[in-house]
Amino acid sequence: MSQVFRDNIFAGKVVFVTGGAGTICRKQTETLVKLGANACIIGRRVEPTELAAKEIAKISENAKVIGVGGIDVRQVSQLAKAVDHCVKELGRIDFVICGAAGNFLADFNHLSANAFKSVVDIDLLGSFNTVKACFEQLRQNKGCVLFVSATLHYQGVPFQSHVGAAKAGVDALSNALAVELGPIGIRCNAIAPGAIDNTEGFNRLVTNPSNVDKYIPLQRKGSISEIADVTAFLFSDAAKYVTGTVIPVDGGMWHLGFPMR
Ligand code: HXC
Repeated sequence: MSQVFRDNIFAGKVVFVTGGAGTICRKQTETLVKLGANACIIGRRVEPTELAAKEIAKISENAKVIGVGGIDVRQVSQLAKAVDHCVKELGRIDFVICGAAGNFLADFNHLSANAFKSVVDIDLLGSFNTVKACFEQLRQNKGCVLFVSATLHYQGVPFQSHVGAAKAGVDALSNALAVELGPIGIRCNAIAPGAIDNTEGFNRLVTNPSNVDKYIPLQRKGSISEIADVTAFLFSDAAKYVTGTVIPVDGGMWHLGFPMR
């Protein structure tokens, strides 16, 4: 995390994070906790989610971090139970990160209808369900939502038709909710990571990692800390007039196209 943020800017705030045990969302959570927030991370697997929560809690002496595993974001009823647990343990929810995602490379010919649906359901329906389950808390606390999107759909990226379609939907959802929920004080934005080093997504998608830097205007891959820094900005008061926007954090790469072809 860079040192641009004041300590404890998020004291008293609670963040609810789906996919919080994964690489990008875990770093986002760690950064918010370091800046004073308490956190509830949600995952499909029980043990890795609970372990990640325990490890994140060590970052700050006073932090309360809980992990709720066994939750599939495709099931809004499961998310509703996680929200109840979070509010019981941590008192409230102010910030929501819709980060749970699924991805694999598959060409159209080998992508079954169920495979396409699985990714759309996890990424897009899962994001909708997360906001749905958190809505009363967001309304009460004039909260803020951050969707984790991608840049894949800005151009046609092969073998990613399922994820590109899902993330285009995530951007549309974010924009629509920003307009609809703005009048009741809820901000909604999306962050679109590019080639971020040491992430599950990058490792799965990029077959020739050493070749990537030259396709990025800033000439290097990004880091998970750089995604977390923009996350902290969007939740902070520095962004209190920012809603309905998608911020690519990709070193300018989307202008040239994702270099996985
Ligand atoms: C083709 C595949 C496949 C693959 C699964 N399927 N993996 N098809 N190639 N590699 C198909 C299955 O055969 C099945 O279709 C359907 O997808 C559902 O698979 P299941 O395993 O039954 O479903 P489920 O348990 O729901 O898991 C879905 C999953 C999940 C998406 C595959 O396992 C997953 O999310 N794994 C990866 C998690 C991950 O990568 N997270 C980081 C995301 S990074 P059939 O027809 O056989 O029933 C990210 C960044 C994006 O999103 C942006 C990058 C720039």
